[in-house]
Amino acid sequence: CGIVGYIGTQAASGILLEGLRKLEYRGYDSAGIATILNNTIHCIRAKGKLHNLQEKLEGEQNPAQIGIGHTRWATHGKPEEYNAHPHTDTQRRIAVVQNGIIENYRELREELKALGHEFRSETDTETIPHLIAEEMKQVEEASTPHAGSHSPFFEAVRRAVNTLRGAFAIAVINADYPDELIVARQQAPLVIGFGQGEFYCASDTPALVPYTRAVLTLENGEIARLTPLGVEVYTFEGQRLKKSPRTLNWNPVMVEKQGFKHFMLKEIYEQPGVVRACLEAYLNDQWEQEELKIQNSKFKTQNSPIRLNLPADFYTDLQQIQIVACGTSWHAALVGKYLLEQLAEIPTQVQYASEFRYAPSPLTPNTLTIGVTQSGETADTLAALEMEIRRRQALAIDYQPRLLGITNRPESSLGDLIPNIIDTHAGIEIGVAATKTFSAQLVAFYLLAIDLAYHRNTLAIDQLEKLLNGLRQLPAEIEMILESQERYIEELAHNFAETQDFIFLGRGINFPIALEGALKLKEISYIHAEGYPAGEMKHGPIALLDAKVPVVTIAMPGTVFEKVLSNAQEARARDAQLIGITPMDEKDAEDTFDTLIPVPHVDEILSPLVTVIPLQLLAYHIAARRGLDVDQPRNLAKSVTVE
Ligand code: G6P
Repeated sequence: CGIVGYIGTQAASGILLEGLRKLEYRGYDSAGIATILNNTIHCIRAKGKLHNLQEKLEGEQNPAQIGIGHTRWATHGKPEEYNAHPHTDTQRRIAVVQNGIIENYRELREELKALGHEFRSETDTETIPHLIAEEMKQVEEASTPHAGSHSPFFEAVRRAVNTLRGAFAIAVINADYPDELIVARQQAPLVIGFGQGEFYCASDTPALVPYTRAVLTLENGEIARLTPLGVEVYTFEGQRLKKSPRTLNWNPVMVEKQGFKHFMLKEIYEQPGVVRACLEAYLNDQWEQEELKIQNSKFKTQNSPIRLNLPADFYTDLQQIQIVACGTSWHAALVGKYLLEQLAEIPTQVQYASEFRYAPSPLTPNTLTIGVTQSGETADTLAALEMEIRRRQALAIDYQPRLLGITNRPESSLGDLIPNIIDTHAGIEIGVAATKTFSAQLVAFYLLAIDLAYHRNTLAIDQLEKLLNGLRQLPAEIEMILESQERYIEELAHNFAETQDFIFLGRGINFPIALEGALKLKEISYIHAEGYPAGEMKHGPIALLDAKVPVVTIAMPGTVFEKVLSNAQEARARDAQLIGITPMDEKDAEDTFDTLIPVPHVDEILSPLVTVIPLQLLAYHIAARRGLDVDQPRNLAKSVTVE
């Protein structure tokens, strides 16, 4: 979900709506805004996408200079208007928007009902305005001074957040206190923007960049009071904190479509630039190849060709790596496992963060734990990492946490949690289906694996040079695919507008790419798709095959090339339509596939960064052909800040 808030000198509703537009990628089941007009709460909500809310607001003259807004990804309660935020208390004096899940809402709801509060929705959020209203009564009756602030409204919200359990970020307004906007954060993101005599809050920075680049990220257990005069930050206990905003080095253009029909297509096209930026940031140009050649085939352990600036103890006695991630980031982690095991010879496990949380692997010594997340905010990934930190801290030195984060959002909650981050330099991604952030995560894993391999002496100098040269050529190769194949893939996509099932096959390092190709297609075209390791197809999915099922096979020359081609033949014998992602002029492949999507000849080990591109384009064009909302597919959200 996305939340926004404004307090200042301008009309709030337009600013809130614009902010919600920038946050719509976080959820789009319903939306709403509440302002304070003539000393009453004026709340407008609509089911479905933001334009439904916009239509309701059209023609409305609303001069209110304070307000909050929300765009929802349904957790508790259906995506109906009565469940849309903002929610209000019985008297409709207090309005609240929330992102997260209130775990103790059932008890609170019963208690509040017993006290006479009337509930109008099925949501966990609605308990909050009622609870604050209840606290208001107590605070206003009490004559003792309030902790932290002289505002009774602030004090009531402060008391309420101490009663809530779960993960939440909230923004609250009160018709009786029209000069105060209160926000609080516990395990769900919230940033505050600073203007001249006006202040903003939002779940994420894209909503703020059109107005200000001075931002302050609230931390867990912090509550802030925004007034036209400034921002005061306190702990949940009411202790005042000294905090000042930092400056974002963003410009508003980064969050616009720049002439592309969809953000997803724009982001697919950004990939050559993103890969280049990530390589430039970390490849060590000073690396003296000649000097190293003296060592013949092995080399010394300083002066890595990669500059990741990781602490020295990351490299000493490293025995195991475990990676936690979700969704597309989990696929990137699988490619990472292949690289870390094959290049650096470190046993590596990849876990779904949501599974790891409740069934962690037994602790092993000298283990590096890596969290991979595009948003830096995925609740399951953060919780898995927090748990890993907790369970290791009390143990002997060998068991102490060694942590690394891989993200394009180093300023996120992941960045707050983990001191060592590889910033993948992909920037923010808006399309819900991850594309450029995935490629950038892959680059980060190449760099990490090479760096570790270098320190552990597991790569010969010629292999290392070949890898580095191959990496440097990738941006041009991705460009080539985009230039030469997009039109063709668009035409090809026409054949599949009615298709119901797809199979994606790959082996070795391209198995995770088969998974990613299937996930992209599922996410945005709603076509059932399965990614499978090509050699496993005969153990089950082959039963699905007939002439109606296209089988997309990734076949790159290398260790498993012939094997993949013969797996594809097995599908062909069941009449399936065979589409091959394979280099040009490979005779055997040409003979095997009905349709070819050619990619440049690259080393098998580097090929995921080229083979994924046609799969992204195929998913995009099939979904666009079907007339679907590519950037905001149904039921999904870009940043899943709930468990
Ligand atoms: C959501 C998004 C996916 C993403 C996953 C993990 O489900 O829709 O595109 O892969 O979360 O997100 P993260 O931000 O942790 O990479």
